[in-house]
Amino acid sequence: MKKTFHIAIDGPVAAGKGTTAKLVAQRLGFLYVDTGAMYRALALKMIRDGITLTDEPSVSAKLVETNPKVSLRVPTDEERDGRLCTVILDGEDVSWKVRTEEVSKGVSVITQYAEVRDLITPMARAISETNNVVMEGRDITSVVLPNADLKIYMEAEAMERARRRHRELLMRGEDISLETVHADLVERDERDSNREIAPLKKVPGAWILDTTGMTIDLVAEKIVERVNELRGVGLVV
Ligand code: DC
Repeated sequence: MKKTFHIAIDGPVAAGKGTTAKLVAQRLGFLYVDTGAMYRALALKMIRDGITLTDEPSVSAKLVETNPKVSLRVPTDEERDGRLCTVILDGEDVSWKVRTEEVSKGVSVITQYAEVRDLITPMARAISETNNVVMEGRDITSVVLPNADLKIYMEAEAMERARRRHRELLMRGEDISLETVHADLVERDERDSNREIAPLKKVPGAWILDTTGMTIDLVAEKIVERVNELRGVGLVV
């Protein structure tokens, strides 16, 4: 069987992982896998069902009771509206519904639960078994694909990340101050880095990429170059 090539990217909120990963995937013809979107879909499901997200037993019971199905796909021609990927929850396109601040806050609570992680981790791994992937999240380099061919930890200064996220939210019509976005982002980073299960961390051997002041295009170019070196593309043999 042909060996698949895996690029694993972790990093804090709005470090540029999503847009960079998508660009790299397009340039290399790989599949882009946004694991954060998979967790977001579960958070949306719980919010809609009126579950108190801080109540772990209720979240677990709801997962068992409803067995939600989450999948990702490359946007079709009709779906090209700026989304990076299409997120399907139980047959419904929730690609934009999972991007609100309400879901962003809620998802960082439920991702601390083992039952939630035990649902998404195997799904993400299964996708990588048959595809060349650029997969991004918080525990991809440490838990989901620890043997990835290229492991990257992407970071940027917190204020620059807050500005990027604020701009995105304003463009989507969410009326929110930069200060609130900054405070939420710092809080979510803390929660993602300090939780007991699968915390966000820099693994040994990961390439630390600080994107502060860099364009996404440049970051993507650097990654593609590194991948081509690793795959031996362009070498005369
Ligand atoms: O990357 P994002 O903001 O869409 O991620 C949503 C939330 O899910 C965020 O709180 C981090 C968490 N997450 C995680 O714990 N593990 C992943 N592999 C991906 C995301």
